[in-house]
Amino acid sequence: MWVLWILLLTGNFITESWSLDVSHLSVTYGQQLSITMMSVTDKLEFTSVNKEQSYIIWSRNAQPKKGKVISSGEENHFVIKSVTFDDQGNYTQWNLWGKVGSVHLVKVLSKRRIQGCVPGKNLSISMDGLSKDDVKLQFFGKDFNLTLVEHGLPVGNNQFGYWGRIHITSKSIQVLIVDGSDVGKYILSDHENNTVTIIILSMFNCELQPTQLKRIHGQQLIIKLPIWYKKLEFSSEKEKQSVLWPSCAQHTRKYVKGSGYKRQFIINPVTYNDQGTYTRWNYRDQVSSVFKLEVFTATHIKDCEDGKTFTISLDGLAKEDVTLLFTNEDSNITLVEHGLPVNNSHNHFSERIQVTSSDIQVLNIGVSDMGNYTLTDHEGRKVKVITPHFVYKAKPLLALLLLLLIPALICCCYGDKIYKKCTRSTTTTAASTTMSAVKTENQNPLLADKKKPKAPAGRTPVKQSPAQK
Ligand SMILES: *[C@@H]1O[C@H](CO)[C@@H](O)[C@H](O)[C@H]1NC(C)=O
Ligand SMILES: *[C@@H]1O[C@H](CO)[C@@H](O)[C@H](O)[C@H]1NC(C)=O
Ligand SMILES: *[C@@H]1O[C@H](CO)[C@@H](O)[C@H](O)[C@H]1NC(C)=O
Ligand SMILES: *[C@@H]1O[C@H](CO)[C@@H](O)[C@H](O)[C@H]1NC(C)=O
Ligand SMILES: *[C@@H]1O[C@H](CO)[C@@H](O)[C@H](O)[C@H]1NC(C)=O
Ligand SMILES: *[C@@H]1O[C@H](CO)[C@@H](O)[C@H](O)[C@H]1NC(C)=O
Ligand SMILES: *[C@@H]1O[C@H](CO)[C@@H](O)[C@H](O)[C@H]1NC(C)=O
Repeated sequence: MWVLWILLLTGNFITESWSLDVSHLSVTYGQQLSITMMSVTDKLEFTSVNKEQSYIIWSRNAQPKKGKVISSGEENHFVIKSVTFDDQGNYTQWNLWGKVGSVHLVKVLSKRRIQGCVPGKNLSISMDGLSKDDVKLQFFGKDFNLTLVEHGLPVGNNQFGYWGRIHITSKSIQVLIVDGSDVGKYILSDHENNTVTIIILSMFNCELQPTQLKRIHGQQLIIKLPIWYKKLEFSSEKEKQSVLWPSCAQHTRKYVKGSGYKRQFIINPVTYNDQGTYTRWNYRDQVSSVFKLEVFTATHIKDCEDGKTFTISLDGLAKEDVTLLFTNEDSNITLVEHGLPVNNSHNHFSERIQVTSSDIQVLNIGVSDMGNYTLTDHEGRKVKVITPHFVYKAKPLLALLLLLLIPALICCCYGDKIYKKCTRSTTTTAASTTMSAVKTENQNPLLADKKKPKAPAGRTPVKQSPAQK
């Protein structure tokens, strides 16, 4: 009884001496709004900022019409988890005596973000729960202002300099591959023109950093050229700036593939002459990105077979420009000079080197040709070092020689017994690829030939002479 009496007294005291408790609350869009309710509050009334709406959100005997009332200990809090502009207005607490206890003037602020422009990265702007059809995105730059998205449509894509760079998903808007010319203010607003988000893309970090590219001679280089790029230029120490694309020059090694977003500039294979700087220009005639290509010597180990032709691709170099050098512990021999085989009767490669427009061939390669084959271009730059690796395969000729000598003797001694054994083993698949010479001993061709007179196709032991090829 006393408690109630005091409560009533203090209640009266508060309302009368403090008159009205007015507080201003600013909440950033999407953040939580929390209003502490006085213990004597009977109901909470909301009046929207334009006074179009006014209703009791919560009273002691009803569920809240928006938000939630959360009790923690003695206190009650009215909470809206994620505010929108619709929540702006006055929140009035009426006390048990039918008087206004407090008013919270709630203002919703735009979100703000300052972001350094990192060239080549996407700028992503969240729609913050807005329906896609309601959003508008405007750009305010140093040189121009532009609406990029309206009613959820990427209208900016029709503009020079954007050409498809505005991507909209259900949750965000992306401006693809930004560069210095995209620096400025981006304003996202809802269907009532309320500014939801302000993003300032700053020049900070925006200096163009060349991207270092490394390729091994003969590899492929791809530079993406989506529709929003206007031009690709190349320069090197020896060559001043030249336009690679768009260009009418026909080139088998350098070409453009695909269209639209998927357009690519390809160099295949890459040579030392492609070393240098590649510059992509946008439709605002600004450099959008820079690539620096460095080319390295290729070193390969390449399988080859004794007696076969060993080919060394020129990887796009002109035949007249190449030199081929052979080195091992015992010798240094120039095999090809300016695309012509070097005629030196002193070396064991004599007559065995052929040059075509795309490769160099070492005919009838043998174990004595083991070493490194170094291809250099017209400026003496080492293009590649190829080391043959001999893979031993079933050699009918070698087998014949071996078998003529050894098993012939054995056959004489063991006669029929061996004959049976030999014929049985020849029926098993003898064409397997990497068979050791030892294994072929079981296939005495003299004996086998009695049953199978024809040698299997392609295995005829003919020594290749250069004249044949
Ligand atoms: C909100 O309350 C303040 C102070 O009582 C008043 O001046 C203002 O007109 C009110 N606004 C609305 C939308 O009711
Ligand atoms: C930019 O966005 C596009 C499309 O969503 C995506 O394919 C690409 O990988 C993104 N690029 C970067 C650098 O994040
Ligand atoms: C862009 O809009 C801003 C604000 O409305 C204005 O001050 C500025 O002059 C405009 N800039 C251009 C280039 O039109
Ligand atoms: C929003 O602004 C545009 C132009 O700035 C105007 O045409 C439109 O009526 C405004 N919409 C609302 C809901 O205020
Ligand atoms: C051949 O080239 C390899 C790899 O480049 C190198 O390690 C090796 O020493 C070279 N051998 C000769 C004989 O030059
Ligand atoms: C091959 O040439 C290199 C470099 O000119 C030299 O160091 C090496 O001794 C030479 N080898 C032979 C076997 O002549
Ligand atoms: C080597 O001989 C071939 C054919 O005889 C000839 O075509 C070639 O020009 C000669 N090479 C050199 C470097 O003289």
